[in-house]
Amino acid sequence: MGKILVTGGAGYIGSHTAVELLNSGREIVIIDNFSNSKPIVLENIKKITNKDFKFYELDYLDREKLEKVFEENKIEAVLNFAGFKAVGESVTKPLEYYYNNVSGCLVLLDTMKKYGVKKFVFSSSATIYGIQKSTKYVEKMKRGIPTSPYASTKIMIEQILEDLYKADNSWKIAILRYFNPVGAHESGLIGENPKGIPNNLMPFIQKVAIKELKELTIFGDDYNTPDGTCRRDYLHVVDLSIGHIKALEKLESSENGVYIYNLGTGTPISVLELVNTFIKVNNIDVPYKIGKRRDGDLDEFYAEPKKAKEELNWVATKTLEDMCRDSWNYIASKKD
Ligand code: UFG
Repeated sequence: MGKILVTGGAGYIGSHTAVELLNSGREIVIIDNFSNSKPIVLENIKKITNKDFKFYELDYLDREKLEKVFEENKIEAVLNFAGFKAVGESVTKPLEYYYNNVSGCLVLLDTMKKYGVKKFVFSSSATIYGIQKSTKYVEKMKRGIPTSPYASTKIMIEQILEDLYKADNSWKIAILRYFNPVGAHESGLIGENPKGIPNNLMPFIQKVAIKELKELTIFGDDYNTPDGTCRRDYLHVVDLSIGHIKALEKLESSENGVYIYNLGTGTPISVLELVNTFIKVNNIDVPYKIGKRRDGDLDEFYAEPKKAKEELNWVATKTLEDMCRDSWNYIASKKD
């Protein structure tokens, strides 16, 4: 069997998926340019799994270097985690987002084509649904109007993948629409630690908990939800990573095609519920105040996860308590 190429394998979701791939007996090759990650993550992946892998430091936009990876390794499938993912940043840096996410993915797909590698797993996002009548998102809903350049890049790439398959039906493509990944590997060796002031809720809570930031501001408590704070579908990053293994297995055992799955728990959790669970489970103070709404936030959205259960035999198994405990364990013991 060939190797699995993991782009962005030193990043948050890439590193957790690399661990699960190695644990499931796969041989992997990681590429990363460390634009939003650190080399020590690679050492920590090895520590957790007690397994080794080949690594190339490169930007996936660098076609020449990327081709070398395909020359030197028998690649069987590619999992792409090399996209930028900060919604707010994408508004101020649209060109960087289109260039890295869309052009990068095009270079990658074109290189795959050149080397006859036609199994691809793409990290998409619930953001592609935009605003729908129902807040429970189902795969068959049409993609919505993008709410940020980041969302546009995900919508564009989904479209590109569908067009690619239409033109050449020898591809096997999985599009995984993530909801809100949080948590960390239970070893505490890998997790999410964004540079600067975090945009996302859990990284912000983590920084307040370790007293790097003074307090959390909850963006609005007058939404149309039971406690007035927004509700999202938070899922543990290890569950999400296992979803990629299942998607890869699905591609290997199925006919050619484009397979689309929501990866979420199906349970909406409010900002207040998440913060209060974090405080309770970890027995630690997280001072917070209620502030103004943040532009662009929706009252709530969550996954209909039935399709992934039926076709991938995947369900999120970790609880909200697990997510909060592992997030704290990582940040409290962090040595990188
Ligand atoms: N929130 C706060 N305070 C903070 C940060 C966030 O109250 O300091 C609230 C937000 O208002 C929102 C909730 O916490 O109600 C979750 O916010 P995140 O920024 O963590 O996540 P989003 O749901 O806004 O964004 C996520 C992913 C994006 C994706 C988007 C839509 O991070 O990649 O869902 O699918 F595009």
